[in-house]
Amino acid sequence: MRRPIIAGNWKMHKTLAEAKELVAQLRTLVPAGGGVEVVLCPPFTALATVAEGLRGTGWGLGAQDVFWEEKGAFTGEVSPGMLRDVGCSHVIVGHSERRQHFGETDETVARKVRAARRAGLVPIVCVGETLTQREAGETAAVVVEQVRGALASLELADPGQLIIAYEPVWAIGTGRNATPADANAVCAVIRKTVAELFGAEVANHLRIQYGGSVKPENSAELMRESEIDGALVGGASLDAAAFARIIAGAAAGR
Ligand code: PGA
Repeated sequence: MRRPIIAGNWKMHKTLAEAKELVAQLRTLVPAGGGVEVVLCPPFTALATVAEGLRGTGWGLGAQDVFWEEKGAFTGEVSPGMLRDVGCSHVIVGHSERRQHFGETDETVARKVRAARRAGLVPIVCVGETLTQREAGETAAVVVEQVRGALASLELADPGQLIIAYEPVWAIGTGRNATPADANAVCAVIRKTVAELFGAEVANHLRIQYGGSVKPENSAELMRESEIDGALVGGASLDAAAFARIIAGAAAGR
C-alpha cells in the first residue's frame, strides 16, 4: 500500500508573515497522523520560517528548485546541501514553469535529481505534456522521454527516495484538470517506465502524484485511482481551508 503524499507548491507567493500564518492555520485544520504525508514547498525566502512553523508536525519541507553543484561561483543558485541545512526533506525538480520560462531541460533535471539524491533530499520530479502534444496524441511518448531523461544514471535502491508528479501543462493553473481516468492512464505509463528502469518492485512502491488544478472537489476522486498516490497542488495550497480539504479528500479517497 502506497501512502498518499500531498505537496503544496506555493510558487512565488507568501511573505514571511503570510507563510507563518498559513502554517499556523494548517496546523489547526489538518489532523495529526491521518495516513497522508504532507509536504509544504514555499519559496526559498520562507524555507527557514516554515521549517520553524512545521516543528512537531512530521510534515515535510520542500524547495521548488535546486542547483546541482554543492558550492561555488553560481550567483543566484542554491545547493542541495543548503536545502538540507535549512531543513528541507524534499525538492521539486523540473516543474513545467521552470522548463517553460527558465530553460530547464531533461538533462538539467537529471543533474538536479542526482545532486538532490546525493544530499539525501527526495526529489519530486515533474513531467507532463503540453496541450499541443496531447492533441497530437504524443502524451505517452513525451512523458516516457521526460521520465527516462530525468532519471538517467540515477541509482535508486529505495522507492521512497523519489516521487514523480504527473502534471499536464494544460491543467496547471487553468482550472481544467485531467479526468481521473486519463490521469490514471498516464500515471500507469510512468510506472511502467520506472519498472523498465529500476524493476517492478521499485515501481510498485514508488509514489506518483497528479498535479494540475487539484481542488477540494476533485482530490478524493483522483486519489481513488489505482495509480495516483497523491497530488502536487499549486493555487489551492495557498489557502489553508482548501489545502486541508484536499488532504482530507486524499485520506478519504484511499
Ligand atoms: P495548480 O498548480 O494546482 O495551481 O494547477 C499545480 C502545480 O503547478 O504544481
